[in-house]
Amino acid sequence: MKKIFKKKNWVEVLKIWPTVAPPCRPSPFDLKIWEKKIQEILRQNKQPKALVFGSTPEIRDLLAKYRISTTILDINPGMVKGLLKLMKYKKQRKEKMIINNWLNINKLFPADSLDLVLGHCFFNNLPWRLHLKLAKSIQQVLKKDGYLLMVSPILDKEKPLSPKQIILMYQQNPRYFEQFANRWYFSVERLKKLDYNKKTKQIFFSKIKTRLIKEIKKQKLPTEIINKIWPFGVSDVMNNYVTAHPPLKDLVKILKNYFKVEKISFSPLSSGRCCPNFVLKNK
Ligand SMILES: C[S@@+](CC[C@H](N)C(=O)[O-])C[C@H]1O[C@@H](n2cnc3c(N)ncnc32)[C@H](O)[C@@H]1O
Repeated sequence: MKKIFKKKNWVEVLKIWPTVAPPCRPSPFDLKIWEKKIQEILRQNKQPKALVFGSTPEIRDLLAKYRISTTILDINPGMVKGLLKLMKYKKQRKEKMIINNWLNINKLFPADSLDLVLGHCFFNNLPWRLHLKLAKSIQQVLKKDGYLLMVSPILDKEKPLSPKQIILMYQQNPRYFEQFANRWYFSVERLKKLDYNKKTKQIFFSKIKTRLIKEIKKQKLPTEIINKIWPFGVSDVMNNYVTAHPPLKDLVKILKNYFKVEKISFSPLSSGRCCPNFVLKNK
């Protein structure tokens, strides 16, 4: 799999992160599910140990709120520190940071040592062929009754729409496209199937955006329309982003090798159906 989203791209992402919203950041719906599970874990174990994949401030805040010992595992020190600025509970956090690749977790942590692994949209950053390996490594470091709590994007079941249809939708109801989740759902999720690679399960942001721009030009519409329908507005930072979005059944099949699926939930946002929330217990 071609991996072109480099460290420096993630640092660029930091600049736009405050304008990014669910489903690219955890929604209150996701956080509520995880908070309930954390409270349940705390009733059994007063000092759980948690690991976070990535630097997601909302997850770090949730763990800081309950003063849970947390390790942040991210390949990019700039992201860990940069996203700290978006945290509410900075002072009370009990965080340690490890700069390393997620694929190394079973070398970084002893087997059976963690109560909780959390992450928002992380599997998709790795090639599909490595998903099984990652799931296995997470299971190895989790304690027997440990949990993996995550949101992971999947392929939308709905029929894909054409760029023409999406532009027409925007013209008929521009206010609808003011919400990040709606821009994401229509301009990314409903278009992504057009360039989907069934083998690698990859989608390509640059291809999706190019299709929209081409249609705007073809119809001789104002070029600024792209900034109103593209989730990241005028920013080009996500142009090189390549991500793996497997069909739900394929992802669940992999996860079921190592975890008992306790709950899969879909947020009420338009984009919720493409970013399920998983509560998974070590098998
Ligand atoms: C989890 S992803 C997507 C954004 C995510 N929802 C968040 O809030 O952090 C972004 C983070 O993952 C990190 N990352 C991407 N691939 C990684 C890998 N293979 N190992 C460790 N960190 C990685 C990036 O440095 C970045 O901070």
